[in-house]
Amino acid sequence: MKFQSIITIDRHFIEQEKRFPYATGEFTKILYNLSLAAKIVTRDVRKAGLVDILGITSESNSSGEVQKKLDMYANDVFVSVMNHDGIVCALASEENDGLIELDESSWGGRYVVVFDPLDGSSNIDANVSIGTIFSIYKRVSPAGKASELRDVLQPGYKQIGAGYVIYGSSTMFVYTTGNGVHGFTYDPSCGEFLLSHPNMKTPARGSLYSINEGNWVSFSDGIKSYISWLKETDKPTGRPYSSRYIGSLVADFHRNLLYGGIYIYPGTEKAPQGKLRLLYECNPLAMIIEQAGGKATNGTRRILDLVPKELHERSPLFIGSPENVDKAMEFLNQSPA
Ligand code: AHG
Ligand code: MN
Ligand code: MN
Repeated sequence: MKFQSIITIDRHFIEQEKRFPYATGEFTKILYNLSLAAKIVTRDVRKAGLVDILGITSESNSSGEVQKKLDMYANDVFVSVMNHDGIVCALASEENDGLIELDESSWGGRYVVVFDPLDGSSNIDANVSIGTIFSIYKRVSPAGKASELRDVLQPGYKQIGAGYVIYGSSTMFVYTTGNGVHGFTYDPSCGEFLLSHPNMKTPARGSLYSINEGNWVSFSDGIKSYISWLKETDKPTGRPYSSRYIGSLVADFHRNLLYGGIYIYPGTEKAPQGKLRLLYECNPLAMIIEQAGGKATNGTRRILDLVPKELHERSPLFIGSPENVDKAMEFLNQSPA
């Protein structure tokens, strides 16, 4: 049997850093810390059914949704690995109303991290895949004092790194620093993320579509006619497509990235901007899909060009294989959303 060379995630981070001759190692340290937090959360996700960590608390997050204990635990883990490191000056999480308070040691930090600590939290109790999503920006306010909101409210094209962790049948850490998308599978026996999916590319076209069709009555005419078109029989265009929807964005995204297809969370009558958060969910996944050869739009504009106005802003999301997203946009343009 041929033995492939083993590349740990730390080694990969260092190799990527060599692209920047003046790198200080600080950015690499952030990635390292994120992968460390992913290991800690993995450990607790794996024993979630065994300890008294499951169940709904009475607290809700800033969007008014009920938080599960594991959400808050994951939030604490990600905050604690990045606080006090002197590298990250601003942290924002889906689970916190405002910027997370960091101590003075953060004032000299040059980087900003925003994250969704536990995505798909309604699936925890059912043992279904969940995830973490993150993105990294450079600070824009002057260093040497507390960070400002503008450090976080940057358009997605300013991201210098983005990634996600999927806690599935195995844990994977997938990231980009603008030089392709690379996936690592966690080997619990040695406690390391090992390179398993180098330079991931999404197929130009796939035959999966993922949308919560329970919201059908409030879809726009454009979306309804696109979904109806996907269900018609037509061999040359691979129709009908298969419907796949887990309800954990990370898991739906990861599957479609590998197999090809489109994920849609549109605006609805009740929620005109949809449900997903621009900063914590749409932007990082948009950077990843573009690096993997795919596309992400809000129905009219490229996700990465949107300028956020507030931390918990939401955006409709059409993301996936380039030909699938283009086709969906054709339908939307015929009958605007
Ligand atoms: P979160 O658990 O971080 O709040 O995110 C939930 C999101 C996302 O993971 C998923 O794709 C979507 O909610 C599902 O929404 P619907 O139940 O409305 O389909
Ligand atoms: Mn989420
Ligand atoms: Mn979440």
